[in-house]
Amino acid sequence: MQRHIVLIGFMGTGKSTVGKLIAERLQWETVDTDDYVEGRYGMRIADMFRVRGERYFREREHEALMQLMQRERPLVVTTGGGIVLRADNVAQMMDNGWVVALTATRDVLVQRLKNDTTRPLLAGDVEAKVTAIWGERRTAYDFAHLKVDTSHRSPEAIAAHIVTTFKASCADFE
Ligand code: S3P
Repeated sequence: MQRHIVLIGFMGTGKSTVGKLIAERLQWETVDTDDYVEGRYGMRIADMFRVRGERYFREREHEALMQLMQRERPLVVTTGGGIVLRADNVAQMMDNGWVVALTATRDVLVQRLKNDTTRPLLAGDVEAKVTAIWGERRTAYDFAHLKVDTSHRSPEAIAAHIVTTFKASCADFE
């Protein structure tokens, strides 16, 4: 079975944008786990956090990942930044996917996220929240097959690099 391409990384590393560009290049479908959960439950992620709590969201996120990883046709799956917090999610991604971690410096992330109002974990002082969560997750994305720093590169260049590396390193790519 051909592997999915799975993008992981901190909020603001550009997973959704880069994922769409990779999918266009490969002519594959792309699915974002947050969009999948929102579509299934008819609720924005921020509202789900507020009404049902983070634990409930993490369960829905886990189910979404399990379902997407079982799809027969290869997908580009983009994920929420916290998906790596569960060991069973990490195992699913490593078993069924070729995993790419997008990274960026803390300062670049603060710049990209400073006006964000959609992410519940960043509500309030974005810089302080990014710094705190960044500290907690410093090594959480290190298990990926490939790491790409997005700080000073265009999404197009990043997508091209990932596709080239994927084709070179995945023997079963047709
Ligand atoms: C989260 C990241 C978000 C979303 C939720 C929690 C996290 O996704 O899943 O707000 O814990 O890092 P993005 O990484 O796409 O912003």
